[in-house]
Amino acid sequence: MSTFWSWYISLLTIGTLLALFWLIFATRKSEVHKSETDQTMGHAFDGIEEYDNPLPKWWFMLFIGTLIFSIGYLVLYPGLGNFKGWLPGYEGGWTQVAQWEKEMDKADELYGPIFAKYAAMPLEEVAKDEQALKMGGRLFATYCSICHGSDAKGAVGFPNLTDNHWRWGGDAASIKTSILNGRVGAMPAWGEILGEEGVQQVAAYVRNGLAGLPLPADKSFDLDKGAQIYASSCQACHGAEGKGMAMLGAPDLTHNAGWIYGSSLAQLQQTIRYGRNGQMPAQEQYLGNDKVHLLAAYVLSLSKTEQ
Ligand code: HEC
Ligand code: HEC
Repeated sequence: MSTFWSWYISLLTIGTLLALFWLIFATRKSEVHKSETDQTMGHAFDGIEEYDNPLPKWWFMLFIGTLIFSIGYLVLYPGLGNFKGWLPGYEGGWTQVAQWEKEMDKADELYGPIFAKYAAMPLEEVAKDEQALKMGGRLFATYCSICHGSDAKGAVGFPNLTDNHWRWGGDAASIKTSILNGRVGAMPAWGEILGEEGVQQVAAYVRNGLAGLPLPADKSFDLDKGAQIYASSCQACHGAEGKGMAMLGAPDLTHNAGWIYGSSLAQLQQTIRYGRNGQMPAQEQYLGNDKVHLLAAYVLSLSKTEQ
């Protein structure tokens, strides 16, 4: 801010405060030598009249209080142009960012050693430590529950983390990698390549031939054709038997319990026709290794995978 605007703002602010001081005392003076009166202001509406009484004392004091508060505020916090305020501990001037950083530093100092202690332990051990799981649970509620749900059971498009179906692997190291680096599922769109007929046949094959779910009885499906399409277009990623491939995040198509985009024929067709791109955001740059370690242990403790 240039010196001109800095002075402009400061003088305007101080001038206004002084004017308010003057105003409140000036109007009060004329009121105090009247004791309470039954004088009215002289206007009446519908039989209702306004008395001309002084402000109640408590109300007057409230006004004074706000004026004193604003002086204190302007001395401590930046408010007058370029003046940074004298709040102790904020020599460079108080800002929200500085306040946030200070609180984070304080928290890091307090909890850093605890995080570091767990970060040095193997995940499988941390996953059995009660205090660690409590901390992990709190981190999960803050950073993960918006997508995976507060019970970690997932939702449409977001995987359940409490079962034994994993897209990217359910061992300790894979879980930690998923959280640390994030994951991007890339299921290509097949609509234009296979045509509508092809999409319907392979969707029926996935639902019935692979996952063993019933098909509507009133329609006929060419499952052999579906199996052929699967073998030529899908098994490179989902595997010859449909068991999936953790390296690519291609889900197991033989257990619909692990699917996140739905198992109805219409939902399967939608997935196959247009493709899917689920994204798990990388956490390393936000949370750092030590917190991710606790989160991975927490997820591990929830999952039903045998370790
Ligand atoms: C290039 C590898 C690749 C190929 C080829 C591929 N998929 Fe996928 N598929 C994926 C990945 C990765 C996902 C997970 C997408 C996500 O998580 O958003 C996926 C997801 C799916 C799903 C959704 C499962 C759920 O969780 O709801 C279905 C169904 C599916 N694929 C069927 C097929 C069929 C049928 C074909 C062949 C026509 C096929 N895929 C070909 C990689 C592939
Ligand atoms: C913006 C939404 C979002 C947030 C926030 C999020 N995730 Fe995810 N997460 C996803 C999606 C979507 C996937 C599935 C990616 C895919 O399609 O393969 C996923 C996948 C995962 C996986 C792998 C699951 C598997 O089957 O292999 C783990 C583990 C995981 N998330 C843990 C976490 C943890 C822990 C947090 C909190 C730090 C978190 N996620 C925050 C959206 C999110």
